[in-house]
Amino acid sequence: MNTWMKLGVFVLSFVCLSSPLTAQENQYNKLRNMCVACHGVTGESPFSSIPNLQWQNSQYLEAQLINFKSGQRQDITMTKVARLLNDEDISKLTQYFNQASTKE
Ligand code: HEC
Repeated sequence: MNTWMKLGVFVLSFVCLSSPLTAQENQYNKLRNMCVACHGVTGESPFSSIPNLQWQNSQYLEAQLINFKSGQRQDITMTKVARLLNDEDISKLTQYFNQASTKE
């Protein structure tokens, strides 16, 4: 390995190690940004056709996402969205919207 390659490896590993977000957190942030685009940052939806998540109980929200995912509840958008989520995403996102709604 020449000096430049060593330097390259050093810089690359530094960039990777010092990245403040893990891949998992990045994935979670991407998902949350998607939800927020439709449902609003605090779950208060800016669109009359999209329901507010604000003030809704986390257990209720979790059940809806599981129902969308399983096909028990169907919606052209939410069925697709819910299929992207694993159990951990569902519990983190519903907790987020539950807590975001009590911030103000
Ligand atoms: C493209 C817009 C869009 C995106 C993105 C989106 N949603 Fe939705 N969401 C909707 C619409 C529209 C409905 C209403 C569906 C229906 O009529 O059954 C809904 C319904 C819901 C419901 C059920 C609410 C209730 O009162 O029963 C939950 C929970 C929910 N979304 C959570 C999420 C989460 C979490 C994400 C991100 C992973 C997300 N949504 C992303 C548009 C969106």
